[in-house]
Amino acid sequence: MTQRTIARIRGPKATALVQRLQWVADPLQYMDTWGKQHPDIFATQVTGNTMIFVNHPQILQELLTRDTRDFEAPGRVNQILQPLLGEQSLILLEGDRHRQQRKLLMPPFHGDRMRNYGELICDVTQKVTSRWHENEVFVARDAMQEVSLMVILQAVFGIYSGERYDLLKRSIASMLSVTNSPLSSSLLFFSFLQQDLGSWSPWGRFLRQRQQIDQLLFTEIAERRQHPDEDRTDILSLMMAARDEQGQPMRDEELRDELLTLLFAGHETTATALAWTLYWVHRQPEVYGTLMQELDSLGPDADPMAIFRLPYLTAVCQETLRIYPVGMLTFPRVAKRVTELAGYRVTTGDTLVGCIYLTHRRPDLYPEPRRFKPERFMERKFSPYEYLPFGAGARQCIGMALAQYEMKLALATILMNYQLALAEKHPVKAARRGVTLSPLGGVRMKMIGRR
Ligand code: HEM
Repeated sequence: MTQRTIARIRGPKATALVQRLQWVADPLQYMDTWGKQHPDIFATQVTGNTMIFVNHPQILQELLTRDTRDFEAPGRVNQILQPLLGEQSLILLEGDRHRQQRKLLMPPFHGDRMRNYGELICDVTQKVTSRWHENEVFVARDAMQEVSLMVILQAVFGIYSGERYDLLKRSIASMLSVTNSPLSSSLLFFSFLQQDLGSWSPWGRFLRQRQQIDQLLFTEIAERRQHPDEDRTDILSLMMAARDEQGQPMRDEELRDELLTLLFAGHETTATALAWTLYWVHRQPEVYGTLMQELDSLGPDADPMAIFRLPYLTAVCQETLRIYPVGMLTFPRVAKRVTELAGYRVTTGDTLVGCIYLTHRRPDLYPEPRRFKPERFMERKFSPYEYLPFGAGARQCIGMALAQYEMKLALATILMNYQLALAEKHPVKAARRGVTLSPLGGVRMKMIGRR
């Protein structure tokens, strides 16, 4: 059988630099334009080197089920995140070390453990939303970021009050604001901008914030080493108790990088997803009506597990992550050898990413893909390669269960307690926020009253 060649994006308007700038400034337009011309697979220059976007479920399935055999899921290609997360971050590790570290980090994120976080999520949501005043406008994403940061800090450290916690919360939110806009996220994309010109320069400010966070984390780790408490079940305690094959504990720098990785990967993404759910639910009255009917059927003091299992709530959260997947792409996979991928010829060293956004926008899978229609998830089942907001394979998101649990419980807690309205005149657009896709302006909303 003849092998097909992967279409390459070329032309005067698609030089490597132009592609890269378009990808940084307006990733949706970039993907929509080229996805229309090449719906299944195409080769881009968005990182300076060739990067192949895979948008067809069958090709994705082949890629992501062979990502330790014929392909690898290397950490070195995620170097862009090194200044934010550190060299020992799970996201930057590869091969055996990556596999071992995942094994170590996975247990606390297993679905069974979610029961422990149910009450915490509801309490935190109540606490944050209790500061809303009637008819006052607030930015949904900021409020949701507070919820998700408090949840992840509690799950990771087992603490959520005190001076160090407050400082940590503030410095992390501030450091991660480097990813707030296309302009500031250029700091990560273009290494020549990474110059420390003092605390007033953007990069200098970023480095100083990082140093402050390091200090706070190292102090927390040192205190726990001095006063070990075997009863603690938070993620940091589990990581500190773990030993590698030589019986060695994780070094402080490794602990710090993994903590930052979980905080970074765990709260920005979930906050954005929650802001989108609030947006869609309030933009479409029929969605709001159906969802409220379902939530009200549970009555007050509903058990978190009962909320989690609600079918329409589940469909609303699924559709939210379909229409604008917070992670637009999977992490890159690289071909270990010359091979065939669903009939396409792939050469050693070729870099491929699953394009979650374009897969979720395929009209053959999702008719009227631009419409928010939770029902589609109740009418049919999608395979893990047709619907993959958390990726798949060797690097599938380890926080998937926590994120889904948090989205449903926080959304339900808000809707059961408050009547809200959008304070946006126009439809909200999606824009890059670091490596994620987020509502531009964060979704302005108003609290109309309590329920
Ligand atoms: C709605 C929320 C979230 C979304 C949409 C999301 C999405 C993703 C995606 C697309 C990947 C890449 C998968 C791949 O390459 O196949 C990923 C990886 C990852 N996610 Fe999430 N995520 C979310 C929440 C979380 C949470 C709550 C945590 C942790 C507390 C987390 C931790 C991670 C980590 C550590 C990785 C890297 C795994 C590895 O390198 O092996 N994420 N996530």
